[in-house]
Amino acid sequence: MAIFLIDLAPSEMERRLREALTVYVDAMRYPRGTENQRAAMWLEHIRRRGWKAVAAVEVADPAGADPSAIAGADPDSRALPAVDLSNAPMVGVAYGYPGAPGQWWQQQVVLGLQRSGFPPQAISRVMSSYFELTELHIQPRAQGHGLGEALVRRLLAGRQEDHVLLSTPETNGEANRAWRLYRRLGFTDIIRGYYFAGDPRAFAILGRALPL
Ligand SMILES: CC(C)(COP(=O)(O)OP(=O)(O)OC[C@H]1O[C@@H](n2cnc3c(N)ncnc32)[C@H](O)[C@@H]1OP(=O)(O)O)[C@@H](O)C(=O)NCCC(=O)NCCS
Repeated sequence: MAIFLIDLAPSEMERRLREALTVYVDAMRYPRGTENQRAAMWLEHIRRRGWKAVAAVEVADPAGADPSAIAGADPDSRALPAVDLSNAPMVGVAYGYPGAPGQWWQQQVVLGLQRSGFPPQAISRVMSSYFELTELHIQPRAQGHGLGEALVRRLLAGRQEDHVLLSTPETNGEANRAWRLYRRLGFTDIIRGYYFAGDPRAFAILGRALPL
């Protein structure tokens, strides 16, 4: 088995949406069926300006593969193996898009920043140029080998925005893979213990300057 990282064009994400959502549901350990609730939102995100997605796919027989495309290699590498990856099983997916006024997530974060006492100039400085890392998921059996980091690096390579922001569920002592990854990549606290409208879970908003 070998893992390759690929960019997913909008049409590819649409074609492979069910598979990508399965990675998400398995990674988050959500009940089966959650895919159906999220599909419309993921499809709507694809149409946002500047949307970008990357995936990790698994190849049983990588004969003829270019090793520079393997996860962990230079994330800027666009080299692809001689094998067809279009139907290689997906084991990881990540996507995001530039934040913009009018997006629900941005409105929620602005509210949180205002409540935390951030001055308006500081809020507009961050909000004027950031990439939202919206989703990042690795199949449980493929976690813990650096794939999550490789996907983040590939997704953020060459972005023009000044910052990257994300939200992640709060967890006791930051003791999970997502938190370890974000801290290792230099993400710092923007807001802690934030409740998005309609979600009973507490979230942290984390961010860092780009480039990574
Ligand atoms: C969070 C998530 C995306 C991270 O992806 P991942 O591939 O498991 O994690 P990483 O890329 O950080 O892998 C690094 C881990 O692999 C280990 N590792 C082994 N070989 C490695 C290599 N060659 N390079 C880097 N790390 C390697 C590291 O020691 C590290 O271990 P640690 O997590 O115990 O600190 C993934 O675990 C996941 O999908 N979790 C569930 C869903 C989720 O929480 N998503 C984020 C919601 S905000």
